[in-house]
Amino acid sequence: MKKRLTISGLALGVTLLGVGFSNTFAADETLRSLAEKNGIYVGAILNSQWFSGGLPGNYEQIHKSQFNVVVAENEMKFDATEPSEGRFSYGNGDKMVKYAQQNGMRVRGHALAWHSQVPGWVNNYRNDKQKLLKVLKNHIQNVVGHWKGKVAEWDVVNEAISNNEPMWRSQSVWYQGIGPDFIDSAFVWTHAVDPDAELCYNDYNLEQGISPKAKAGFLLEQVKRWVKNGIPIHCVGSQTHVEDTTTDKHFIGSPDSLRALAKELAKLNIKLKITELDIGFKSGINVSKSDLERQGKTFREYLDIVLEEPNADTYLIWGVSDKWSWLGGLNRQKGLIYDDNLKPKPAFDSILVRLQTFEPPKDTTVTDTTKQDTSVTDTTKQDSTIAIHQTAGPGSVTTHVAGHTLFIAGVKSAKVEVFDMQGRPVFSGKCETGALELKGVSEGVYMVRIREQSASLVRKIAIK
Ligand code: XIL
Repeated sequence: MKKRLTISGLALGVTLLGVGFSNTFAADETLRSLAEKNGIYVGAILNSQWFSGGLPGNYEQIHKSQFNVVVAENEMKFDATEPSEGRFSYGNGDKMVKYAQQNGMRVRGHALAWHSQVPGWVNNYRNDKQKLLKVLKNHIQNVVGHWKGKVAEWDVVNEAISNNEPMWRSQSVWYQGIGPDFIDSAFVWTHAVDPDAELCYNDYNLEQGISPKAKAGFLLEQVKRWVKNGIPIHCVGSQTHVEDTTTDKHFIGSPDSLRALAKELAKLNIKLKITELDIGFKSGINVSKSDLERQGKTFREYLDIVLEEPNADTYLIWGVSDKWSWLGGLNRQKGLIYDDNLKPKPAFDSILVRLQTFEPPKDTTVTDTTKQDTSVTDTTKQDSTIAIHQTAGPGSVTTHVAGHTLFIAGVKSAKVEVFDMQGRPVFSGKCETGALELKGVSEGVYMVRIREQSASLVRKIAIK
């Protein structure tokens, strides 16, 4: 279970008083640093192009500074790790594990038993149950054994449920050859090899309701049975590949439905993880600024589940930049939080500001067994309205609000963006004279981000 870390007194001092800014701007707070304050994991895949060295240098820079959990897009799948029978290939996975270790990131392993991306030699045993059992067990023992203690959690079984009606996916080689018990066996074998790893069942369309007719409802019944039978399952991964609501009339998923699943899983002592989030638009449509802002709101609503539900701890996005995304194949576009030029989109801001402003309920004390931190006292509450003046040492930036005017000292030409406490943008403008009228912003508490070139800082302000 995660620990609800509140913002420490030290961090608060830095944030509000501007202590320690030796340059004009402090280093940006990152999704990662804020995720860690909130005791959650925020991650993105390493795209296949990263493994082949086909990405610009700032991709990795962004990845390691913004995220604290990582998963390989394709490189730990069956066809990548055992391309021919009994011959294992770990080079790419090892490369990612090393990168994660060097950068203090958690590693997810994806995926052991899946019907897709299995090599042809496995499919040849489709009608031989005994052989297939041996193949799956041998694969798990080798792959999980190789990364034992290094991969913190595995998608042991991926997408075993049919998409059309609540039943098993009958075309899966594992289901056809072995029957539904392949799932129970895969969990037991994985646990036997690495008893410390967290083991997940992972699937998509789980944000579409928990009625018995929905996929998540069917899954819940199976999880209940697995738990009752002592099958070592610890988490459900919700892929959460969703389409922006206004461009798909048939879209029926929602953050509320996924939250309902999290709550049901909590009763079974099972975690919920968001493992492959993207929120795409239909290919070919013109995506406007307000579309991107609405997309940001949806990203935030899914994040709220992870922040607020005690048994949810992971928010993992299936890609970094829209330029390298699998969504094209789904007839979708622009589903990630960085644009084609690796510039943060409104969705990035929305997530960042939400992580900055989230205040855990006062009485939440949850013990984290996966992270090493100790409890920190919440000293933020009494300060929520005092962040109007910030003064720092020489060369620093000072901000001050009077009425609707924001005064900024220490910058020449700055872009100013104001967000409400849910991370929605409410104002943006340029400040070149040291003062800026925050037109149209109503009374209340906001986050303001001031950017000069690539440096930026974020402050809480109150408009009275
Ligand atoms: C996708 C990858 O992103 C693509 O590069 C690959 O061609 C197909 O698989 N559900 C999963 C992921 O569990 O493994 C899939 O990844 C996306 C859907």
